[in-house]
Amino acid sequence: MSASLICGDPLKLEKELDELQKAQVDSLHFDVMDGHFVPRIGLYPEMLKAIKGQTDIPIDVHLMIDHPMAYAEKFIEAGADLISFHVESKDDILETINFIKKQNVKVGLVLKPNTSLETLNPFLESIDLVMLMAIQPGILGQKVIPETFERIFELAHKVKDYSIIIEIDGGVTPETGPKMIEHGAHLLVCGTGTIYRPHEDTLENKIIEVRKIIDQSQL
Ligand code: DX5
Ligand code: ZN
Repeated sequence: MSASLICGDPLKLEKELDELQKAQVDSLHFDVMDGHFVPRIGLYPEMLKAIKGQTDIPIDVHLMIDHPMAYAEKFIEAGADLISFHVESKDDILETINFIKKQNVKVGLVLKPNTSLETLNPFLESIDLVMLMAIQPGILGQKVIPETFERIFELAHKVKDYSIIIEIDGGVTPETGPKMIEHGAHLLVCGTGTIYRPHEDTLENKIIEVRKIIDQSQL
């Protein structure tokens, strides 16, 4: 489970980080958006650095930007443990992968819902993770695109001989999450549909609840 920080309450960030730490989420998902690659603006390196000073949970940076090569270093300096960027971005993909890896940071490639899995072929040897968008990137709270499940299954088959983590971003709910795991996903980005879904309970308890559902689906 990767907790999507952009879905949190900015005024309660410190308290929420504390709860995320107590509940031991696997990673913190940090959405970066440039207003070009996706319509909205997202999080920034200084914020990542401040968060890194408060927690030892690994930080999974998702760059939704046209030029990952130009900004990767800023996020590495700020403390990213893994950087994922889009295969549809405008920079040289292999050059960007190698640049990130050279600095001992893990690297992932992200695919929008309509991008063919074939685009991954030249990079499978070089990456640690593939993240499939289950929604169009950039907008929170959307419903999962139904073809996602079949796509996860196909990707799982495709990468079966590599040690590649399959992460799914967007549209994760108590209903869709277990189905994503059943189809072959390893890591789910949990946002407005799960742990940040508004209700009375604490973030820590919501994480425990969601984890139970997701773990059961792996049995
Ligand atoms: C969307 C972001 C996601 C976001 C998804 O572009 O990349 O990380 O958390 O939000 P939900 O969980 O609301 O679909
Ligand atoms: Zn994301």
